[in-house]
Amino acid sequence: MNTKNLLLSAGAVAFLAACGSMGGLGGGASFPSADQAVASSWENIPAGWEKRLVQDDTQKTCSAARDKPNKADTERVEKMNAAMPVVYPASGKLVGDWKKGEAIAQSGYGLRVGDNNPNRETGGNCYACHQMDKKELSFGTLGPGLNQYGKLRGNSEAIVKYTYDKIYNAQAFSACSNMPRFGHNGILKPEQIADLVGLLMDPASPVNQ
Ligand code: HEC
Repeated sequence: MNTKNLLLSAGAVAFLAACGSMGGLGGGASFPSADQAVASSWENIPAGWEKRLVQDDTQKTCSAARDKPNKADTERVEKMNAAMPVVYPASGKLVGDWKKGEAIAQSGYGLRVGDNNPNRETGGNCYACHQMDKKELSFGTLGPGLNQYGKLRGNSEAIVKYTYDKIYNAQAFSACSNMPRFGHNGILKPEQIADLVGLLMDPASPVNQ
């Protein structure tokens, strides 16, 4: 046994001894069975989680084709998603408050095990895939950079509607988009989506600086 192994096993003995004196491993305390451990890790999951394991037609088509369906299926999926209802904010205002939008874009809260705080809204986690505010150092690159989005596209009614609808259901525009269908799947509320449109379109938003 070389010195390193000797030290390691000495450490292991010390660890077991410590556990024993705490009534842990060596103390005959009862441990949960594997089944109990698995069951307890599924406690406190928001109601209806199991529905998320069932693929809809869009997801089935994309999974079967590894996200590259043929032309006919691509068109069918996009058409089907485009025909699904889109709910707009009751106010009719599609461009909301960019400050709230920035907080939503930053937040990854919601839909995870343990995210059970009824007073916290689900976030959009947009920075996980998109650069938005240039000053934010941490962002993913799975999606295109959205910095200067409003500045580059202008804020015509058509662009505002496209932006809202894209966030609502990305797969109406790109059959097997990696972007979550935020509105369609009830992840974000219409008002939150409008706040995100504000973040992308408002000339005062950090996205357009
Ligand atoms: C898991 C990755 C992912 C997340 C999270 C994500 N997106 Fe995307 N997004 C994409 C990808 C990939 C595209 C490129 C087009 C496509 O495939 O749909 C995209 C495209 C877009 C576009 C269209 C850009 C264009 O040039 O027309 C907008 C707008 C957009 N995302 C906004 C958002 C917002 C707002 C959020 C947060 C609520 C968000 N995205 C979250 C992956 C993501």
